[in-house]
Amino acid sequence: MQIILGITGGIAAYKAADLARLLTHQGHRVRCVLTEAGARFITPLTLTSLTGEPCYGANPDQGEWRANPSVEHIELARWADLVAVVPATANIIGKAANGLASDLLSTLLLATRAQVLWAPAMNTGMWEHPAVQANLARLRSFGHAVVDPGEGVLACGEEGSGKLADVLSIAEAIRAQGTPKLSSLSGRRVIITAGPTREDLDPVRTLTNRSTGAMGIELARAFRDVGARVQLVLGGDLPSPWGVETLRVRSAQQMLEACEARWAGCDGLVAAAAVADQRPEVPSAQKIKKGEGTESLHLVRTPDILAQLSASRRTDQWVVGFAAESENHLDHAMAKLRNKRLDAVLVNDVQGGQAFGAQANTLTPITAQGPHPPIGPLPKDQLALAVVRWWSQRLENRLT
Ligand SMILES: Cc1cc2nc3c(=O)[nH]c(=O)nc-3n(C[C@H](O)[C@H](O)[C@H](O)COP(=O)(O)O)c2cc1C
Repeated sequence: MQIILGITGGIAAYKAADLARLLTHQGHRVRCVLTEAGARFITPLTLTSLTGEPCYGANPDQGEWRANPSVEHIELARWADLVAVVPATANIIGKAANGLASDLLSTLLLATRAQVLWAPAMNTGMWEHPAVQANLARLRSFGHAVVDPGEGVLACGEEGSGKLADVLSIAEAIRAQGTPKLSSLSGRRVIITAGPTREDLDPVRTLTNRSTGAMGIELARAFRDVGARVQLVLGGDLPSPWGVETLRVRSAQQMLEACEARWAGCDGLVAAAAVADQRPEVPSAQKIKKGEGTESLHLVRTPDILAQLSASRRTDQWVVGFAAESENHLDHAMAKLRNKRLDAVLVNDVQGGQAFGAQANTLTPITAQGPHPPIGPLPKDQLALAVVRWWSQRLENRLT
């Protein structure tokens, strides 16, 4: 993407340098535009060094301007796929909400047809002021995205809301805002299960598996990016992604209950979690000591989450499962598709430790028509987007 990063006059302006570096590393072209107040907090030299692109000042005599300063605001407005204002002061928010154009950044914000994203940062009193909130509501009504600030100790010494959202979350929001939406998934509610489940033997020991949850989390990000409203039911310890409602669970039973509570309100389910098939029949309340009883475990079956949700689905709901197989993948996956009445199964070959924790992976989709061409090998984030696009195409063709 070609991104304009507008940097305005707040203490958090130094964090914009980190964001510029991160976005550049992610492969985006980033051009920074400083307001006059912004340039008192951070220099153009820092930003040009990090981005390898020119940096622009508030007025033609500031920053590094190119050939024709008189139409620079229009050129930049056209150049951008997305304009992100980080940090955004109360002042620029007020100006943009009311169509004022008094310097380069406010003028290009008015001229651009690109997506616009705001990451406000200010003192708590300013943040909570009805004028600022009304201005932000107006910007949202224009279709702009807002990454709300978090809470914490602010530069002014006060503790409360108004602290710039963390840079990684802002980069996630930029990714989500900049991804084209897919009509078959936009606004749709999707449950995604991800990660391992853990079945406790006693307070210190647990039965689990080698899944990290990385693939399911990438799927949650990809569905979010194309416009779906994702509810992630997550086992394991990985952090939940920005912009995704996440419910953390431990056991298969908890995962089932979390999904069942949400299923009626959802359009689809992607079951990417590696759910334990068995659990200890009676978990011990105290740590089991050496030499107590036999050295064998008595296990019982855990609920089959995918089968239960699929059995209780309405005709307008769709279900996609995952199969991690170490042999006869396609036969096992086809049997799973039929037995559980799924719309598709994505097959992982886990032979020799592939898939779990790996950076790149391949998935073979199977539907009632049989196997489809494999997707990958690709890094998991790109693989997830490719899977979502494949699935959206099938939804558009009504699963035929
Ligand atoms: C040290 C200092 C820190 C400031 N921090 C903020 C801030 O975090 N958020 C904010 O909205 N304004 C802050 N201001 C006020 C803005 O700099 C001021 O409103 C300025 O006119 C904003 O101009 P701009 O929006 O064109 O960058 C701060 C001012 C100073 C002197």
